[in-house]
Amino acid sequence: MKKIRIGVIGIGDISDVYLNNLKKYDAVEVIACASRGLEKAQRKAVQHGIPKAYASGAEVIADPEVDLILNLTTPQAHYEYNLAALKAGKHVYTEKPLAMTYAQGKELVALAKEKGLLLGCAPDTFLGGRLQTIRELIDSGKLGHITGGGAYFIGHGHEFHHPAPAFFYQPGAGPLYDMGPYYITALLSLLGPVQRVCAMATKAADTRTVPSGPSKGQVLPVDVDTHINAILEFDSGTIVTLTCSFDVWDSEMPRMELYGTEGTVLIDEKAPISGPNLFGGDALLRTSAEYRWADPARSAAHVNTPWTVIPNHHPFNSISHAENPRGIGLVDMVYALAQHRKPRASGDMALHSLEVMECILKSAHEHIFCEPETTFERPAPLPLDFPASETAH
Ligand SMILES: NC(=O)c1ccc[n+]([C@@H]2O[C@H](COP(=O)([O-])OP(=O)(O)OC[C@H]3O[C@@H](n4cnc5c(N)ncnc54)[C@H](O)[C@@H]3O)[C@@H](O)[C@H]2O)c1
Repeated sequence: MKKIRIGVIGIGDISDVYLNNLKKYDAVEVIACASRGLEKAQRKAVQHGIPKAYASGAEVIADPEVDLILNLTTPQAHYEYNLAALKAGKHVYTEKPLAMTYAQGKELVALAKEKGLLLGCAPDTFLGGRLQTIRELIDSGKLGHITGGGAYFIGHGHEFHHPAPAFFYQPGAGPLYDMGPYYITALLSLLGPVQRVCAMATKAADTRTVPSGPSKGQVLPVDVDTHINAILEFDSGTIVTLTCSFDVWDSEMPRMELYGTEGTVLIDEKAPISGPNLFGGDALLRTSAEYRWADPARSAAHVNTPWTVIPNHHPFNSISHAENPRGIGLVDMVYALAQHRKPRASGDMALHSLEVMECILKSAHEHIFCEPETTFERPAPLPLDFPASETAH
């Protein structure tokens, strides 16, 4: 298999996780990096043994030895570099969201198809062990038909832990475009395409002050909605409530639950930055047979059957933010190239996710139902033997 040579644009907070992981795979080699300014790129190149450092993203894209651009810039720069890379004949794997607007995303997907290039997009957390376990349960039919569900990203923003959090409150981010992709992609990979959306949105404040860290005291303008409630109706008929909020100090809501005709599957974490944005963690099940009222003794004693932890035999089960297998979506895309198949973390699914997010805001602002025009094929489950690393390194 031809080794794919990667040029990385954007070398901030998340880049070390990617760069460490990509070193584990012989199918890829990171040969160049850049952000804004040569010095920072040179430091990152030395840190990770990357042969070339450039002063700008444009120079990485212009490098004839680079086959694939990994775009780890902030959301506001995703479209610009994704477009330029595709125009230059490079494959692209980008952090989420695919672009700031649906129109931009559509242009990228069309261009990649026209040029026969691969376009993949984070998040790849849906390939992690927990969501693959839930996928297997749903596909087995044991949950029956999924009638409904709830997905709740609830927290109080990233200024408490991110070194440069301003971008989270600008269009292209906010709780919907920053954290929503994890939740929406999880739902899309489990349930398939969305056919209708309605929503309401608001924000608690017009500015926020960074409480700690290198940006402490910085006042951030809030130019996005920071509390969004949506209802998504899937082609399957499933109806899911989605909340994405940076305005909540604490909550007892689970992170995700799906209600099947034969049982409920649950991701029960309460910590804000956990849930479908992690690769691992438990998935819990309670079946119709375990329903308290199905057993007179239990119902009389007001005792619920404990939730069952669903056995998980899938790879990629990290629950760490600092060390996790981010990038397996890119590796899968490189394998897909060699195997002439579609990548799992595909541009098509990312475009649908982007359109769904835009629909949510359109519905909220215009007080209408919104129907996405795109669709996508649900990605195949990740094979159990997908390598966690390749041995030569
Ligand atoms: N930080 C995380 O925990 C995390 C986790 C998952 C995904 N992400 C996603 O990864 C992406 C990057 O996030 P981050 O936290 O690393 O951000 P960051 O601000 O720490 O780093 C962004 C990098 O992009 C560079 N950059 C920005 N605009 C640029 C431009 N126009 N040209 C060249 N370089 C440019 C910056 O110089 C910096 O090196 C975002 O899309 C974010 O949603 C971040």
